[in-house]
Amino acid sequence: MPGRPDETLPKQLTERLHYYQELGINLFYKDRWMSARAGKEPVPAAGRAAAAVRAEPTQMPSKRPAAVTITRPSAASARAASAAEPLPVAPGLTLFEAAERVENDSLEKIREEIGDCKRCRLCEQRNTIVFGDGNPRAELMFVGEGPGRDEDAQGLPFVGRAGKLLTQMIEAMGLERKDVYIANVVKCRPPENRTPEKDEIAICSPFLLRQIDVIRPKVLVCLGGVAAQTLLQTNRSVSHFRGQWLDFRGARLLATYHPAYLLRNPNAKGDVWKDLQMVMAVLGLAGRKGRPA
Ligand code: URA
Repeated sequence: MPGRPDETLPKQLTERLHYYQELGINLFYKDRWMSARAGKEPVPAAGRAAAAVRAEPTQMPSKRPAAVTITRPSAASARAASAAEPLPVAPGLTLFEAAERVENDSLEKIREEIGDCKRCRLCEQRNTIVFGDGNPRAELMFVGEGPGRDEDAQGLPFVGRAGKLLTQMIEAMGLERKDVYIANVVKCRPPENRTPEKDEIAICSPFLLRQIDVIRPKVLVCLGGVAAQTLLQTNRSVSHFRGQWLDFRGARLLATYHPAYLLRNPNAKGDVWKDLQMVMAVLGLAGRKGRPA
């Protein structure tokens, strides 16, 4: 089981960076590690500083230099520096800026940055931005695909038919909705509930990654293929990952079927319940009622 990051790493990293600086090494190049990983599957743990970097809400202009200078050695952050993997540095962001960004982020800031979002075409037909809902300190976070009609009307995730089933599952685990956090890959309803397009996901998912980094859940459950494929950066179907723990940004990630899929395929409920029992075991939950109907 992957433990929480080593608490001494931020200090070690800061000292190491000061050491490099004293040696006159001020430039750190964009890590080949990220590009080397691109396209490889499956993709487990990603570092938290990488998170900060990938959580840029808008595409970075390609003209930005690939090399960055460390200019502010005083601001190393515990959380960004706690990544157990090499730290890729975003073009245009110093490592310290990336670290600070992770350290100082909050759900309020993320929501504020989303604003009255017009970054992609999904804004044209949405009524409400569905940011996410629940306990910001939740140990358990669910990630769905995107709002449907009811969510778009109410501004809350998973409140329609699939949402009711999700609520039942949460309660069967011995929890209430207010104990967990629920968010989606895209925050605006795709017209006719179509699957979000790649570019829409690319624009919106950085906000989800930041939400995950702020909440720091112990367990992250991907509901359905879009959530799993987005977080794991793969094209593989959810059945490939089901029932299997993966590491993701300091959390344990489990992918399972989407509740909407269960509404169409009730026979798959048993598999999902098995997955949720794995989650319950990790979180030390006894469960309330046994398998949801
Ligand atoms: N389906 C999702 O993926 N998310 C919701 O919020 C509702 C339905």
